[in-house]
Amino acid sequence: MENERGSWGSNIGFLLAAIGSAVGLGNIWGFPYKMGKSGGFTFLIIYLLLAVFVGFSIMIAELAMGRRTGKGTIGAYHALSARFKWVGWLAVFAPFVIMSFYSVLGGYCIEYMALNLSNLAFAGAEVKTGADLFGSMLTNPFGCVVFTLLFLIICYLINRGGISGGIEKFNNVGMPALFVMLVIIIVRSLTLPGAVEGLKFMFVPGYAVEAGFIESAPGIGSVMATAGGQMFFSLSLAMGVMITYGSYLDKKENLIKNSAVIVVADTIVALMAGLAVIPAAVATYGPSAALSGPKLLFVTLQDVFQAMGTVGPLFGVIFYLLVLVAAISSAISLVEVVVTFFMDRAAAKGTQGNRHRIVLLVCLAIMVEAAVVAVDGLGTNVLHIWVPFQNSLGVVGSFNDCWLDFMDCLSEGLAMPLGALLMSIMVGWELGSKTVLDEVHKSSAAKWIDGFLTFCLMVVVPLAMAFILGGQIGDYFSTAEHSMYAVGYGIGAVVVVVAWIVAFTSPKRKK
Ligand code: PHE
Repeated sequence: MENERGSWGSNIGFLLAAIGSAVGLGNIWGFPYKMGKSGGFTFLIIYLLLAVFVGFSIMIAELAMGRRTGKGTIGAYHALSARFKWVGWLAVFAPFVIMSFYSVLGGYCIEYMALNLSNLAFAGAEVKTGADLFGSMLTNPFGCVVFTLLFLIICYLINRGGISGGIEKFNNVGMPALFVMLVIIIVRSLTLPGAVEGLKFMFVPGYAVEAGFIESAPGIGSVMATAGGQMFFSLSLAMGVMITYGSYLDKKENLIKNSAVIVVADTIVALMAGLAVIPAAVATYGPSAALSGPKLLFVTLQDVFQAMGTVGPLFGVIFYLLVLVAAISSAISLVEVVVTFFMDRAAAKGTQGNRHRIVLLVCLAIMVEAAVVAVDGLGTNVLHIWVPFQNSLGVVGSFNDCWLDFMDCLSEGLAMPLGALLMSIMVGWELGSKTVLDEVHKSSAAKWIDGFLTFCLMVVVPLAMAFILGGQIGDYFSTAEHSMYAVGYGIGAVVVVVAWIVAFTSPKRKK
């Protein structure tokens, strides 16, 4: 049975795949800017504390849930819980929704790689500015759909190869290559005149305001919510990914060490990505540079490469290839969550699921939702397609200003913190941390983990997640006139209390 389901070829293969999932667009365009804007080193320390107490413990819990049950997300929740079975659905829904925009962004990376290849080939031809190029790409829905499809075809080809034959193989090559490319870009970026300003922006507390990058510093509540949301997304948590990857992991592998390596590697790559992109952007543009999100990648950095002269396009090709590899290695983990669900379902019915067909159908379904996001083009929407709640409510905060943000709000904004909150209460209060610890101790005798994990899962994680959920609601739904933070924190508090009562009265608890 084990063999039919497949498994990782080696522990390092698993690690590279898990790191590949974690390292993605979030590291490259999210972390560096958020760190600079939210207080440099101060932010880093808050981020690290959250990563150790919240991220690390959820990582262990997810890997343990997957490995213990030998099932993907939904199967694992069903096997373990009496009251929180349905939370598994959240963690399959969210990756599916994330793929709607992740594949579009992956498509953009392919387009920019092609652009830089062509700049390299036709050096001397007149080139447009990053902003013009980005604008013409977004207002060309057909092109965006085609490149989104291309990205999904790549994912399809990898995922159909299975766990060791596809995902592991890709990451075995992709991750080391990504690292090398990142180092090349860092060296180029840091040797540009003026790069040091960028370093100050990233690391020196208060510098972002002082030097005019942003107008005023965010409050501590907002910094914590930003750090928490970022940490979650970046570590691929509460998305079923680590449960799914854990379900293919051998019983002899050490969950504590593996989780620690994943968290540390992801954080190091995020810092390295900062060194690669921020100094270059600031050296070229100064404090007015767009330093986050799609604009950082596709406007600011494209200009940076164009300003470098003849060698620029070569660095451009390397950079967009690097981002593409990071996007693919995350996307295939998201696809695998859904694929494993269908494979397990077939197995539960006593048949062997046809992986090729399941992967094809999942990718096709993703293509349908992604086509909508691609056509909308980050809200440029030249075809005037309908955007949820926009006609009735107008643009409310960032939750419905374009399709991408809407899908992001559903998945990263709501499903992810809610799922993590409920999961920690399920493990901490319904099942008891022993469920996770038994699994952890199959391959480790470490004693300190018992108290640490129990305390984190029972107390720290639920409280931190309620706070992060509240902060996300505030971020996505606040408008210039109405702040939604108080409402958000209120909802967070209610969810914790209700979930706790549900867990406390669960029949599983009596045992
Ligand atoms: N961790 C990935 C990133 O940083 C995104 C991701 C989230 C991937 C959730 C899988 C699951 O971009």
